[in-house]
Amino acid sequence: MKVGSRRVFVGAAVLAFVALLGTAISARQAAPAQGAGEPVPTSDNTLKNVQLLKGIPIDTFFESMGMFANALGVDCTFCHDSNAYFDKSAFANPTPRIMRARQMIVMMNALNKQYFGGQPRVTCFTCHQGTMQPRDEPNLALQYGEPVEDPNSRNFPAFTGVTAEQVLDKYLQALGGADRVAKFTSYTAKGTYEGFDTAFDKRPVEIAGRAPAQQTMLVHMSNGDSVRTFDGQSGWWAGPDTPIPLLTLTAGNLEGARLDALIAFPAGIKQAYSQWKVGRTDIEGREVRIVQGLRDGQPQANFYFDSTGLVVRVVRWARTPVGFVPTQVDYSDYRDVAGVKVPFKRTVSQTYMQMTVEFTDVQPNVQVPASRFAKPTPWETKRMG
Ligand code: HEC
Ligand code: HEC
Repeated sequence: MKVGSRRVFVGAAVLAFVALLGTAISARQAAPAQGAGEPVPTSDNTLKNVQLLKGIPIDTFFESMGMFANALGVDCTFCHDSNAYFDKSAFANPTPRIMRARQMIVMMNALNKQYFGGQPRVTCFTCHQGTMQPRDEPNLALQYGEPVEDPNSRNFPAFTGVTAEQVLDKYLQALGGADRVAKFTSYTAKGTYEGFDTAFDKRPVEIAGRAPAQQTMLVHMSNGDSVRTFDGQSGWWAGPDTPIPLLTLTAGNLEGARLDALIAFPAGIKQAYSQWKVGRTDIEGREVRIVQGLRDGQPQANFYFDSTGLVVRVVRWARTPVGFVPTQVDYSDYRDVAGVKVPFKRTVSQTYMQMTVEFTDVQPNVQVPASRFAKPTPWETKRMG
């Protein structure tokens, strides 16, 4: 893993980026429908100097930048003008490394087009592997040392010792039994939130959920409230920590909101995907089963179950123009609420940010009004009103 200071550095640069687009977006037009079926702002009609990564939603653009930072093992200002910390518009300033990175995008696209049928097989990570300068000589330590396995792989060998159905049945059993899980139909929770966007300061958070798939989280940031909502179909994010006043979740991020709701209300988990694949690996020395949900033959998400049968991790991917970019959610501290085990702690790791939510109190089966899951008011409007 990377050193702490570097991770905080990345966070600081993301913070600088946040709110950058606030003014830009209001002046320009939203793009035609993508993802949630409503117009969402895209990279080239929102940002100033995008030449290659055009026509993609803002959340996908961010994932692409996170991919760059991850692949090269650097923070945002390795490529961007270091003034971007203080003056967000400096992200658009050309630098030699941005020009170099653009050449790399062109090279990567050409390789994929010519040799891999247009599939994103060669990505920044394929060559860079977390370093600025890819190695070109073989590594003997890799050949003779202990193999290091990344449990988050999209492609893993199938394990036939157990079926997905068995693993999922054991999960529902471990949670308290399918009957009790089905009767857990809503909740409200209080707790704390900490992340890059709070400089790892713990802030109060309020969460509410309603089966089968609605969830909302309100974080009381030091500079205003940030709301993330999934109404069962569409998802949004609005607050002082969003890149634009109202971020509409698309593709992989929308799937992420759906998955989070599925972990809160897992009664229908067996029907959540049309196909499943089972594997096994370990996470920090503990053996886990992987159950991968596939749709149209494409991996959508990996669920990891420990020996007690509970979910300890979920990994999903956003498809971007520069390849698949992962998001990992680690669940822990399961406690009993109305006879059902609820994970009181979750840590979300993305290529451009990390955050942890811890519950202190969960109220099961309470009335939650539908209005709590409505599309949030754009942050700017709220600030001005
Ligand atoms: C490896 C180099 C590299 C890294 C690291 C990188 N970027 Fe970029 N960034 C680029 C390139 C190249 C472009 C232009 C893309 C294009 O022209 O399509 C860009 C464009 C941008 C823009 C658009 C600016 C504008 O208004 O036109 C923003 C904002 C941005 N990056 C933010 C970030 C953030 C935030 C991070 C860290 C998470 C980051 N970048 C990390 C290479 C990088
Ligand atoms: C086919 C292999 C390959 C791929 C794919 C690739 N790179 Fe590179 N990249 C290299 C090599 C080789 C260098 C030169 C390193 C050196 O100078 O020693 C390099 C250098 C760079 C540099 C300059 C680093 C510095 O030290 O200034 C940047 C920035 C960069 N790559 C960004 C990217 C980005 C962003 C992507 C994905 C869009 C990408 N690369 C994909 C092989 C690759």
